[in-house]
Amino acid sequence: MTQRTSFQPIERNLAMELVRVTETAALSASRYMGLGDKELVDQAAVDAMRHTLDGISMDGVVVIGEGEKDEAPMLYIGEKIGDGSDPKVDIAVDPIDGTTLLSKGLPGSIAAIAMSARGTMHVPASIFYMDKICVGPEARGVIDIEAPARDNLLNIAKALGRKIGEITVTVLDRPRHVDLLREIRATGARVKLISDGDIAGGIQASLPDSGVDVLMGIGGSPEAVLTAAAIRCIGGEIQCKPWPRTEGERKESIAMGIDVDHIYPTEELVSGDDVFFSATGATTGELLKGVRFFGGGAETQSLVMRSRSGTVRWIEATHNFERLDKVRYS
Ligand code: FBP
Repeated sequence: MTQRTSFQPIERNLAMELVRVTETAALSASRYMGLGDKELVDQAAVDAMRHTLDGISMDGVVVIGEGEKDEAPMLYIGEKIGDGSDPKVDIAVDPIDGTTLLSKGLPGSIAAIAMSARGTMHVPASIFYMDKICVGPEARGVIDIEAPARDNLLNIAKALGRKIGEITVTVLDRPRHVDLLREIRATGARVKLISDGDIAGGIQASLPDSGVDVLMGIGGSPEAVLTAAAIRCIGGEIQCKPWPRTEGERKESIAMGIDVDHIYPTEELVSGDDVFFSATGATTGELLKGVRFFGGGAETQSLVMRSRSGTVRWIEATHNFERLDKVRYS
């Protein structure tokens, strides 16, 4: 049998298998909604995700996960998943993006996963945060993360055929964004502050007609790669720049050979033509409906995408717990 390399296309639409992974993560974690325990929701999602991933026939390795092996027993960076058969893939997981949201019962938490051919996902080790800008397909090519917010917003407005006051910008509500917010507000653009969950925020910005046109600001690096995977499927653009939190982190990164001034375009965060993405809503937000329980089961909504075909699927599922238990434990 010939070995598959990242240059050979992955024929199977893995996203159709990934949706079961994010569904089970969202279903399990959302049982603990509102209990005020973010570790509990995360653990429930991790356990469910890891268990369901085992059912996928592949040679997978976690490149974005729950941390290093010594701090995370499951879904740690470098963990091998699958039965070792083709395809060879990189796996990025965020079992719950917005653990605080889910632990408080607030809108917008999602379970998310992405896969791409082996060696095609990139995240600079030791860089925990990145500055990000994300837009949809119509504004692809007009953004520049190093330019002032005003220039970006003018260019985006022009590309969308709108006035700047008709552009909506999502920004994480953090003290580090005081200057950015001042700049954005001075342009007259509409601002949407989110308390958490910039994967959903970035995806919303890249989906046409979502009501959001751009995401700006500093968020997690792992989240940047997952957002990039989604954007590879949708066709928009993300640019990121490392944001070391301290001078020490900056120096440490440079010593490790990381170029902290490098700008990561979409195709560098996730390269290759075979990118697969799935997200399922845990609590209802603007992007996805959350888990809705009924007697004996629950409903979920997921966003499931593949870059090669560009197909974007919204999958509504009804889960019957009694039958599911029989399938799982028979
Ligand atoms: P968690 O679910 O891991 O708590 O992450 C939520 C999140 O809001 C991300 O979406 C975002 O990228 C990151 O945290 C921002 O980090 P911080 O809360 O430290 O500003």
